[in-house]
Amino acid sequence: MIFISLGQFLVKYDPNHIYPDHTLLTLHHNLCTTKLLTMKKLLLLAGIAAMIYACGGGTQQDNTASDEASSSASSSSTPTPADNPDGVGKFKDVQIPEKLDAALAEKGQSVYDVKCSSCHKLSDERLVGPGWKDVTKRNTAAWIMNFVTNVDEMLNTDPKAQAQLEICLVRMPNQNLSDEDARNVYEFMRKNDGVQ
Ligand code: HEC
Repeated sequence: MIFISLGQFLVKYDPNHIYPDHTLLTLHHNLCTTKLLTMKKLLLLAGIAAMIYACGGGTQQDNTASDEASSSASSSSTPTPADNPDGVGKFKDVQIPEKLDAALAEKGQSVYDVKCSSCHKLSDERLVGPGWKDVTKRNTAAWIMNFVTNVDEMLNTDPKAQAQLEICLVRMPNQNLSDEDARNVYEFMRKNDGVQ
């Protein structure tokens, strides 16, 4: 007599008993699928473990300690999106003067009028995408400039971008902004957020 565990079921199997064919078949089938499932789970676990190891780069403890602080320090190793407030793309650590550059903001406004206003309001109200009120307070300059020039990769990898996608349910289409336009639009967003 053997007891075989199938997930939460305990199946009694007596080798001396003559089972009708289909019972054995089912038993065999169940055994195979549980084995397969367990294998899949194991593989998945191994995969996750490998990923965590790879992303951590051997300094997992440091990375979890402080996201903001470690991302600037670890810029030489490839940072994961999760610990990178600037997102993914060509812009890193963009320095913006405190005072508004009115000329840039004006150019940014014309980009907004043509390419962005159909989906983004300047208030905090959502249209297709989130309203732009306080967008410069929610994200770093580099994050916004990376988002608008590298939107697909950002939506695929950046947790903040993905959180917005979950709310809006529409993927923002690539607007083909030049780096200069990205900077101009950012300045217009700052103006909208009250920078003078
Ligand atoms: C077709 C609609 C659409 C257009 C046009 C559009 N966006 Fe978006 N935008 C979205 C959506 C939707 C999101 C939220 C993320 C997602 O779901 O893809 C978003 C998110 C953003 C965000 C992040 C906002 C936040 O609060 O984190 C920025 C920045 C942004 N867009 C900038 C722009 C700029 C700049 C333009 C114009 C050059 C533009 N968008 C044009 C739909 C659009």
